[in-house]
Amino acid sequence: MPTKRLLELLEMPRMGVTCAQVYNTPVPEGARLGEIDPCGCVEGLLDLIEDVNITDKDVCEVGCFLGVSTETFLQFAPRRLYAIDAWGLKNDYNDIKYLPHLNFGDIEGKFREMSRGYKNIEVIKNLSIAASHGFGDNTLDFVYIDAEHSYEGVRADIHAWLPKIRKGGCIGGHDISIGQVQNAVYSIEAFKYREVKTYKDTSWLVKLP
Ligand SMILES: C[S@@+](CC[C@H](N)C(=O)[O-])C[C@H]1O[C@@H](n2cnc3c(N)ncnc32)[C@H](O)[C@@H]1O
Repeated sequence: MPTKRLLELLEMPRMGVTCAQVYNTPVPEGARLGEIDPCGCVEGLLDLIEDVNITDKDVCEVGCFLGVSTETFLQFAPRRLYAIDAWGLKNDYNDIKYLPHLNFGDIEGKFREMSRGYKNIEVIKNLSIAASHGFGDNTLDFVYIDAEHSYEGVRADIHAWLPKIRKGGCIGGHDISIGQVQNAVYSIEAFKYREVKTYKDTSWLVKLP
C-alpha cells in the first residue's frame, strides 16, 4: 500500500516544473503527471526500486536537484542514502537553462528542508568524482546516477562509482532517452554482456555479477 507521501511524490515534477509547463502545452483534463511527463515523474522509478529492492541497502544518488527522486528512494527505507549534488559548485552545468527562474540556492534549500525529516540520509555537497573518493571500494549496494548528461560525464561517473558497488549490487541512472547518456551507458565495457533494463521514466539499471 503506497504511503500518503509516496502518492504526493508521484504527482511532483522532478525538475520543479513539468515539460508541459516549460513548453506551455495544454494538458488534458484529469491527466496524471506520469502521462504528460513520464521522464519528469517518479512513476517508472518505482519499478526500478522494486527490481533493486533497496530496503536495508546502502544507496547513493548522484545528482539530486530538489530531491523528488531522493525522497522516493527514502520511502523504501534504505539503510543509508548518500545524496550527492554540486548544487551550483559547477558553473558549466547547463541542464537547467530551460528553468531560468530557479537558482541553486533555492533548490539546495528545499532539498535540505526535505532531508531534515529523515534520519538515514547523508547529504554530501560536492562534485560526483570528488565525492566518489570519499567511499571505499565495495561499500555500496546501489548507485543511481543523474548528474552530468554528456557522454564523457556519464562515462566518468559510471567509472568512478562502479568500484564502490558490492558484488551482486546494481548501478543505474536517469535520462537514457538522451542520446549522449544512452551512448555512454552502452559503451561501458563492464556492461557488455549484461542487460541494461530501462523504465517508463527513462531510468536504466544494470545488475552486476
Ligand atoms: C537532473 S538533476 C537531478 C534530478 C533528480 N535526480 C530527480 O530525478 O529528481 C541533476 C543534478 O545533478 C547535479 N550535478 C550536475 N553535475 C554534477 C556533478 N558533476 N557532480 C555533482 N552533481 C552534479 C546538478 O546540480 C543537478 O541538481
